[in-house]
Amino acid sequence: MTGPWWKSAVVYQVYPRSFCDANGDGVGDLEGLREHLDHLEWLGVDAIWISPFFRSPMRDYGYDVSDFCDVDPLFGTLEDFDHLLEDAHARGLRVLLDWVPNHTSDRHPWFREARASRDSAKRSWYVWRDGSPDRPPNNWRAAFREGPSWTWDAATRQWYLHLFLPEQPDLNWANPAVVAAMHDTLRFWLDRGVDGFRMDVVHCIGKDPALPDAPEELARLPWCALNDHASTHGLLRDIRGVIEAYPGERVMVGEVVLFPAERVAPYYGREDELHLCFNFSPLWAPWEAEAWRRQIADTERALDPVGAWPTWVLSNHDNPRHRTRYGGAEARARAAALLLLGLRGTPFLYAGEELGLEDAAIPEARIRDPGGRDGCRAPIPWEGPDAYGWANGDPWLPWPPDAARRNARALGADPRSILHLYRRLLTLRRGVPSLQRGAQEMLAVPDGVLAWRRTSDAEPWIVVVNFSDAEQRVPLEGSFRVAAASDGRSEGTAYSGRLAPEQALWLRG
Ligand code: GLC
Repeated sequence: MTGPWWKSAVVYQVYPRSFCDANGDGVGDLEGLREHLDHLEWLGVDAIWISPFFRSPMRDYGYDVSDFCDVDPLFGTLEDFDHLLEDAHARGLRVLLDWVPNHTSDRHPWFREARASRDSAKRSWYVWRDGSPDRPPNNWRAAFREGPSWTWDAATRQWYLHLFLPEQPDLNWANPAVVAAMHDTLRFWLDRGVDGFRMDVVHCIGKDPALPDAPEELARLPWCALNDHASTHGLLRDIRGVIEAYPGERVMVGEVVLFPAERVAPYYGREDELHLCFNFSPLWAPWEAEAWRRQIADTERALDPVGAWPTWVLSNHDNPRHRTRYGGAEARARAAALLLLGLRGTPFLYAGEELGLEDAAIPEARIRDPGGRDGCRAPIPWEGPDAYGWANGDPWLPWPPDAARRNARALGADPRSILHLYRRLLTLRRGVPSLQRGAQEMLAVPDGVLAWRRTSDAEPWIVVVNFSDAEQRVPLEGSFRVAAASDGRSEGTAYSGRLAPEQALWLRG
């Protein structure tokens, strides 16, 4: 297949704290991930993105980095990482790291030095403002907690900026020394052989130097969902230059949390900024044909004119899992897999969705995350109880619902399971250029149903999704065979023109 690998790839997100614990401390680690690469190879994904495993005080569970160039001892060592990368590459799996450029931990030596005095050589590596202790410099809100994105530093009598927790001070990317130091952190991992980066809230790195107030009507939103300054684009072009100095189509995937998709499109640049950007509004769309029709149309309208390649994601470490959001029924989780993997663009899976996992219920005493995101971060069950394949059966968060049945071993033994469905879809997709890279055209179908045609030089494919809880007649011109069915029924037979309630099909022309 021509074109860069990341256009036809399926990426699988690993949240390392929750993937698998090999050393018995109740927290997942790099060795636990390495031991399960056979699962990922068997499943048929092309790349993994690993959420942060760098040194961190873990106030934001790794997104508060105190050393960008080392592995936190909780997760292992640099040697463990090299071993993991080598094993992944040997299996044909590419590896993306999670780079957190907008902020550091307040324990990072850079911030410690900056905070020490107003005259510190690193003072201007962060964003400081004069003022009085009772009035923050502007109305920007921080994420996760009510309150300003500013903290008053009593010792040096200035405010510092943090779009997230006070323990996550924002770097000042207007300072060339910060740019150079952050480029070096990329080179550190590129030199070790990583295939690219998911870039955390990367639309936030350039800030308006005047730090103007958010408009009153938007001031309730955290500023990280609003920051959209022109200077970021130049910074991204320079970062792209760093990446492209390396051979092998390394990729930059940006977490650009802006709405609507028209505001995300500029972050692709003219093929000189991000290769891919997340597209989050579909992630929040309900399980309804009409809502999804709009999401698909909005995405095409925003991205196609600038030649930007879309991405699709239903679940990640920041939001309730889609099975939970869609009400819990397995039929929907299965149909959602055909939807996600049938759309034109690069799909991102979140570890455990192939097991049909739902969010864990978190009793108050076990809440860990200041942002309320523990449920979707529940540990992945690899085997049955008591330890579920973890070295320590009492992990940092509770197990997800029904883990005695919904675990990789039990589902792997059942060819009708959702796990085998994901595997069939990923295997099919790999061999079908129309699904991987083909054009997409929506078809006229009854209410409650969506259908689209995927075409390339090879045979056309059709994806049909019945979002409704009624059987639907969906006649199509031409004759088709069922290549994949969300409920596994009728695969390999001629398409009958009917869909069962909440059934999705992939049809081969
Ligand atoms: C991104 C991450 C989230 C993190 C935040 C701050 O949104 O996905 O987990 O808390 O950035 O780094």
